Amino acid sequence: MNNQDKIRKLIELRNEARMGGGEVRIDKQHAQGKMTARERIEMLVDDGSFEELDMFVTHRCTNFGMEKTKFKGDGVVIGHGTIDGRVVYVYAQDFTVFGGSLSETMAQKICKIMDMAMKVGAPVIGINDSGGARIQEGVTALAGYAEIFERNILASGVVPQISAIFGPCAGGAVYSPALTDFIMMTEENSYMFVTGPKVVKTVTGENITVDDLGGANVHSSKSGVSHFKVENEEEGLMMIRKLVSYLPQNNFEEAPLTECTDPIDRLEDNLNEIVPANPNMPYDVKDIIYSIVDDSEFLEIHQHYARNIVVGFSRFGGQSVGIIANQPNFLAGVLDCDASRKAARFIRFCDAFNIPLLTLVDVPGFLPGSGQEYAGIINHGAKLMFAYGEATVPKVTVTLRKSYGGAHCVMSSKQLRGDFNYAWPSAEIAVMGAKGAIEVLEGRNVRKIEDDTEKAEYIQKKTDEYEDAFANPYQAASYGYIDDVIEPRNTRFRIIRAFQNLQTKKVTNPLKKHSNIPL
Ligand code: HXC
Repeated sequence: MNNQDKIRKLIELRNEARMGGGEVRIDKQHAQGKMTARERIEMLVDDGSFEELDMFVTHRCTNFGMEKTKFKGDGVVIGHGTIDGRVVYVYAQDFTVFGGSLSETMAQKICKIMDMAMKVGAPVIGINDSGGARIQEGVTALAGYAEIFERNILASGVVPQISAIFGPCAGGAVYSPALTDFIMMTEENSYMFVTGPKVVKTVTGENITVDDLGGANVHSSKSGVSHFKVENEEEGLMMIRKLVSYLPQNNFEEAPLTECTDPIDRLEDNLNEIVPANPNMPYDVKDIIYSIVDDSEFLEIHQHYARNIVVGFSRFGGQSVGIIANQPNFLAGVLDCDASRKAARFIRFCDAFNIPLLTLVDVPGFLPGSGQEYAGIINHGAKLMFAYGEATVPKVTVTLRKSYGGAHCVMSSKQLRGDFNYAWPSAEIAVMGAKGAIEVLEGRNVRKIEDDTEKAEYIQKKTDEYEDAFANPYQAASYGYIDDVIEPRNTRFRIIRAFQNLQTKKVTNPLKKHSNIPL
């Protein structure tokens, strides 16, 4: 064989590998509205940047006559490419090869790029589309999963890890995505569950469809397992590119600073009027977010889950910032179990990856009731407190309106090492709202009054006195718990200046093996 023949052979082998499980299975994949693994990667990374590794790897299984059926690449495409010129490592399971099922060799391939990503310090993006452990391989497939899990765990907080679920993801296979930082699901074709509908029916008698058990709607709104729900794969891949743009490559780097053409001293007069005079009237905190961030761009995480708190990424003066905001438009912005967990995890991600935090506070307190107590609001609330208190990244807090009780302490208060704590003139910072306070403080006096009109007048008088004393930011400001009361229209400028000032912030936590966050 001369050199020309050898090169021709190489090209043939490559072309064979690129066909995955063959044309018929590729057509089936397309007919289901799904792209192939390679099509997905090509759309995800910059044009021409993808370098595939291990395309000649085949499985080594000999059970059930498996040695007669081998496909080059063995059901997963791995390699590296760039997104906006920055390196990412990618794996995409190829459903056309044994249903993307995980073999010993597939696991080795995935582990290879995870190890490379850790060495180089670059994000890992996994595209999941798999029937789970390769049944013919048995225990070696299980060991393969565990190898991946261990790497997910060690990579956590070192390089960003993103999981796209573009097909089945069932059984123990769900735990690799679950160990990563972000999960995305497509509305059609994707599902995740520990046990499928048939097993559910056998064990519990419950009749349930695949979608109702583990579809994108369920996981993005009810369980919170999925951070992003997208209509289709193309939208999902573009969203991953956007997400990556807000993130640093690893925990030793800062997120990239982008050029900011939006004036940093832009005044937003409408903000002076946005908070309703009546404290019981809602407003949409996202309107405030869009007004103050660069170019009104905000990538919301967990958009459909625990909507009483809003979290996501934006930029201020070109710098990536993680935003946490109570949402008065939903359950009055109260903190409950789900909202606490959602925000805590986001804060910990930002802190791990040097992304500063902006907190916008309008919180009436923790949600009362047996439902929340039985669900462990004490534990979940403590997670949020822990996440804020432990975070060493720059922390800027703006209190827009209510900031009551324990929720005041939790939401990035000065005492949890908030760096700059500002308040709008509409802020109300107190132990509790006027109504509750008067019931406790004046109950005895109120009960003594027999005439109803007189009683109402007395309650109103005491409520007015309480509101005059506490429904404002000045008592907190008089103690220095609030650094300044700012005019709402200046908010963007004040936030940007605060973050610029904090660029050289250095705070470390006491040396320890690791903390014991109340999980
Ligand atoms: C080997 C598999 C496979 C698997 C699918 N295939 N799953 N091969 N191991 N786990 C193969 C099929 O034989 C078929 O091969 C091809 O992939 C496509 O599968 P279809 O069934 O034709 O596709 P579809 O109708 O779309 O159904 C997809 C599916 C179904 C719902 C995922 O294939 C399925 O139920 N698979 C088994 C799922 C499962 O129970 N996995 C084990 C879970 S336990 P051909 O040659 O016809 O193309 C587990 C433990 C992990 O994963 C523990 C980790 C700790």
